[in-house]
Amino acid sequence: MTNLLLNFPCGCWIILTGFITCFAPLLKCIEVGRGESSILFVILSQSNDFHVKEAEKFRHHFNSQLDNLDKSSWPQVLFTHEHFLDIPGTWTIFPLIDQLVHLHTGWSWVFICEEDTRVDINALTRLLQSKNASEHHFLGRELRDHETTIIHHFAFSDNPLQFAYPDFRAGFVLSISLVKHLHNRLNNEKLKIEFSIDPKHEFALFVWDEGRGTPLVGVKEFCSVDQSYSSGCITRQLFKFPDCNEAIKEEDLFVAVKTCEKFHNTRIPIVKATWGKETKYIEYFSEIEDRSIPTTKLDVPNTERGHCSKTMAIIKRIIESQNLSSIPWVLIADDDTIINLSRLRSLLACYKAQQPVALGERYGYGLIRGGGYDYITGGGGMVFSQPVLKFLSLSCRCYTEDSPDDMTLGICLKAGHVPVTHSRFFHQARPDDYSREFLSNQLPVSFHKHWNNDPYKVYTSLTSSSSAMKENGVKSKHTNHFDMLLAVQPFSFGKL
Ligand SMILES: *[C@@H]1O[C@H](CO)[C@@H](O)[C@H](O)[C@H]1NC(C)=O
Ligand SMILES: *[C@@H]1O[C@H](CO)[C@@H](O)[C@H](O)[C@H]1NC(C)=O
Ligand SMILES: *[C@@H]1O[C@H](CO)[C@@H](O)[C@H](O)[C@H]1NC(C)=O
Repeated sequence: MTNLLLNFPCGCWIILTGFITCFAPLLKCIEVGRGESSILFVILSQSNDFHVKEAEKFRHHFNSQLDNLDKSSWPQVLFTHEHFLDIPGTWTIFPLIDQLVHLHTGWSWVFICEEDTRVDINALTRLLQSKNASEHHFLGRELRDHETTIIHHFAFSDNPLQFAYPDFRAGFVLSISLVKHLHNRLNNEKLKIEFSIDPKHEFALFVWDEGRGTPLVGVKEFCSVDQSYSSGCITRQLFKFPDCNEAIKEEDLFVAVKTCEKFHNTRIPIVKATWGKETKYIEYFSEIEDRSIPTTKLDVPNTERGHCSKTMAIIKRIIESQNLSSIPWVLIADDDTIINLSRLRSLLACYKAQQPVALGERYGYGLIRGGGYDYITGGGGMVFSQPVLKFLSLSCRCYTEDSPDDMTLGICLKAGHVPVTHSRFFHQARPDDYSREFLSNQLPVSFHKHWNNDPYKVYTSLTSSSSAMKENGVKSKHTNHFDMLLAVQPFSFGKL
C-alpha cells in the first residue's frame, strides 16, 4: 500500500494502532515546513472494500497533484477508515474535533470531504491564503431546506431557507481557531444530541450556535456534480451514481417486506403495483396469513412500533431455509418503503456478498459524547449479505418484542465488529424532506413513507435525473407508464 504519510518530508509513520507517530526531531520540521495556509485533509472514508477502493482513488488523484507543489508545503491527509478506525462516529464530525486538536499539529485549516470528492489543492490553497485562520471560518457548498423537515427536527419552521449547511461531498473547511473554539465548547457544554441523523445539518447547527457562532459561508467553486464539468471548480463531485459494471442478477437478491394486517389492503397493493414487481424473490411477512397477497405468517405478535421480534424472525427464517440462505443479498424493507430495485442491483455490484456487508442509510445513537453505535435506519431499506444475517441470527437478541429493530441490529453489529456501511442513495424520509441541491447530485435508490406523500410519484421520481426530482417526477420519461399504473390503481393518500 502506498501511503502519502510515508512520503512526508517530516516522516510520519503509521503504527498498527492507527495512530500517527512522528519522530521527535522531525516535529520542528513540520513547524518550519507548514506555512500559514497549511491544510490538513480529512477524508470521511469507510472500511468496506468498495469504499476503501474509492478512497485509494482519492489518494491517487491527490498525490498526483503533489508533483507540482513545493515539498515543504505537502499537506497531511488522514482517512477516517485508517486513522480513526477505533473512534466511533467520526462521520458525525463531533468526535473528530478532539482528535484534530490533540493528534495533529502544524495546520491552519482543515478540509473535510468524502472519498469520492476531488479537490484542486492549489486552488484551495489560494482561496485560503486570502483568509485569516486566526478568525472563525466555516466554508462550503451551501445546502438549504425548502420545507421544514423531520430529518432536521423541523428546525427553522418559519423559514427553512434561512439556514445553510454544508454538502459534505463538496468538502468543507474549518479554520483552526474555529476548531479550537468548537473543541472548547464540546468540553464545556452539555450537548443534547442523542441521535445522529443528518450530520451535515447537526454539525452546522452546532457551529452556528443559535446565532452566536459561525454561519456557513458558501463558496461557489465548491461544485455540485452538474457544475463539476465547468472550469473553475475548487472541489468536484464525479458522478451521481457509481458505475460498478453489471448489476447483480435478479435471483441474487431476496426482498423481505415487513407488513401487518392493518396495511394488507392499503400499502401492499402499492408495493405490488410499483417496485414489488421489479424482482423475482419477494416475500411479505405478516402476523397473519393472507392468501390474496400471499403473506408468510410469522409466529410473533404484531407490535405497534419497533418490530424487533418480527425482523429477527425474518432473519432466522432466511438462515434456516436452504433456498433463502443461498441467495447472496437480502433487502429488508417496510411496506411503505419506496425503492428502485433495479438501481439497488446496480449498486450491489459494487459490494462483495461473501463479505459481511450491512448497507443502507446510516444513523447513529449516542455517538456525540463518545461511544454509541451506528445503525441502518430501517425505513430506507436495510441490505445484508448472508454472512451478516448468519451472525445476527446466531448472536442477536431483542430486548423486548417491540424494541426498534434497526437500532437493535446496530447494537449487535457493533458487538460483532461488523461495520455499518453508509450509502447516500438510501433515504429514510420523503423526497421533500431533503435539500434539492443534495438530491440533484445523485440517483436515489430509496425513499420512505406513504403518509402525506404520493408513493407513486415518489416511485416515479426514482426514475432518473435530477430534473425529474425537482419537478416531482412529472417530467420523467416513464410518466406514461406510471399514468397507467395510476389509472389501474387509483391513489388517495388521505387513506394511508
Ligand atoms: C488575523 O486575525 C487575528 C485575530 O483577529 C488578528 O490579530 C491578526 O492581526 C489577523 N492577521 C492578519 C494578517 O490580518
Ligand atoms: C426451494 O425452492 C424449490 C425450487 O424453487 C421449491 O420447490 C421448494 O419448495 C423451496 N423450498 C422452500 C423450503 O422454500
Ligand atoms: C430505476 O432505476 C433505473 C436505473 O437508474 C432506471 O432506468 C429506471 O427507470 C428506474 N425505475 C423507476 C421506476 O424509477
